[in-house]
Amino acid sequence: MAQFRFRDLAWCTCTHSGAIMESMGANSNKDWWRDATVYQIYPRSFADANGDGIGDIPGIDSRVEYLASLGIDAVWLSPFYPSQLADGGYDVDNYRDVDHRLGSLTDFDRLVAHLHDAGLRIVIDIVPNHTGSNHPWFRQALAEGPGSPARDRYIFRDPVGPPPGAPPSDWQSIFGGPAWEQVADGQYYLHYYAKEQPDLNWANPEVRADFVTTLRFWADRGVDGFRIDVAHGLTKDLSADPLPSQAEIDRIGPGPDHPMWDRDEVHEIYAEWRAVFNSYDPPRSGIGEVWAATAGRRARYATPAGLGQAFNFDLLYAPFEAAAFRSTVERNLAQAALSGSTSTWVLSNHDVVRHPTRYSQPQLADPDRVREQAQAWIASGGRVPHAEPALGAARARAATLFMLALPGAAYLYQGEELGLPEVIDIAPQHRQDPAFFRSAGKEIGRDGARVPLPWTRSGPSFGFGPGISHIPQPDWYAEMSVEAQAGEPASSLAMYRQALKLRHLLSEGEDLTWLDPPDDAATHFRRSPTWSCVTNFASHPVPRPPGRLLMASGPLAGREEIPPATTLWLAG
Ligand code: NOJ
Ligand code: CA
Repeated sequence: MAQFRFRDLAWCTCTHSGAIMESMGANSNKDWWRDATVYQIYPRSFADANGDGIGDIPGIDSRVEYLASLGIDAVWLSPFYPSQLADGGYDVDNYRDVDHRLGSLTDFDRLVAHLHDAGLRIVIDIVPNHTGSNHPWFRQALAEGPGSPARDRYIFRDPVGPPPGAPPSDWQSIFGGPAWEQVADGQYYLHYYAKEQPDLNWANPEVRADFVTTLRFWADRGVDGFRIDVAHGLTKDLSADPLPSQAEIDRIGPGPDHPMWDRDEVHEIYAEWRAVFNSYDPPRSGIGEVWAATAGRRARYATPAGLGQAFNFDLLYAPFEAAAFRSTVERNLAQAALSGSTSTWVLSNHDVVRHPTRYSQPQLADPDRVREQAQAWIASGGRVPHAEPALGAARARAATLFMLALPGAAYLYQGEELGLPEVIDIAPQHRQDPAFFRSAGKEIGRDGARVPLPWTRSGPSFGFGPGISHIPQPDWYAEMSVEAQAGEPASSLAMYRQALKLRHLLSEGEDLTWLDPPDDAATHFRRSPTWSCVTNFASHPVPRPPGRLLMASGPLAGREEIPPATTLWLAG
């Protein structure tokens, strides 16, 4: 893949006073999460302090200064709990400990203290839909057999014929293959994800009580907020006999009549959790990973009586086009207003192809096809002739500046500040994602977004740690490393730092006003009398509106035009 040398670019024309550069720190009010910039850390791939090839808590701790230098408000840690790593740590074997390969509770406490000292908050991932299959509860369920109270914590069912011994339904795991796994005594258990992720039974009071204990355990240690995995999936109704088929539940879609997704009773759980969050000063925040059928259904998770905020992934799936970006923003601001929350914006995370790579493809309007297209391109080893990495990188920077000008919370994913594209050529023996294995390699999976970060130009793992990294890094990481970009005003890293500092300074309220764009292929919106954001989505230059330039996402040829795939922030 062609890579970019930041020093060859000289586009950063922005100037601003030293005051803008002062350290911004997290704001101290209890509603900090409404407009926060939250940086997601995938702990196993961020920084490795002890050289065993796996990122760890002391590694994150050693980079607190870097995190603070970005101008973010909070970090969100993906799971760091004991796990057999069947799904990157989203298979949790103990919710109230740190995986010993990643450190200890003492290391965790030290990290929290250091983040807080640096003015940063910490959000952690809670995975309540399923445990790991090495969780003591699941081991007990297997040992104690059908009808036992231990089995009732999970969703076990007898086989259903015909044919004799067949699983209770034809439901498919999201990672491929059947969603039911048979155990030695003949019963099946439900696992909507990998078979190492048995779904919990949220009708069981012991399950409910235990998660409250877990929330308090971490909140008592100073954790500021929680990201709730599969928040729409906890309560299930499997009372129908026979169970509906996969085709039927696909037709029903998430909502009150679906046996698993977005059922109304799930909000009883979040009302209880809200009481827990609000018993702390300041109240702990919540953000749900929610996949619901409509705006109104998603809004129900984001109310002040519930989790408070819900992810929307619409910008991530929108093609890089003016109309798509504008309608996505309009729709989501309206949705956020329904709940009294703010919108969340995401361009990359640990589950999707990194946005510079997505944008290097021809842009499609159908979210499912966007995913398939990127998968097909990656599976081909990047050999599809129409992929344009330089264009993808320019669009990614433009989309990022667009996103960082929006009202609401922005979620960044580790490495996006370096402009990292997806790593597409990971050999099968180094792949870890269950989606790859459960689909016999047909789904290439998410490992390409989870390759350990490059911190330095050289070293056995480009500064990730003293040893080699748990997923091999490509050679071109050297020139995309933090070291290579530090002090380079035209680098992606410099753009993120500058944008985050300006965002803090310029953000005023939660309003956005659309202005007449200079071209149909552009958007222009105002956030305040002194801040507007104009993006050219086209492959041709468009006229530049009046206003002093604050910053640009790419090189500018002159003062009159906005080049293709470029965003400008203007004073005015
Ligand atoms: C959503 C997480 O983001 C993803 O990484 C994980 O595989 C599933 N939930 C299952 O926990
Ligand atoms: Ca380590």
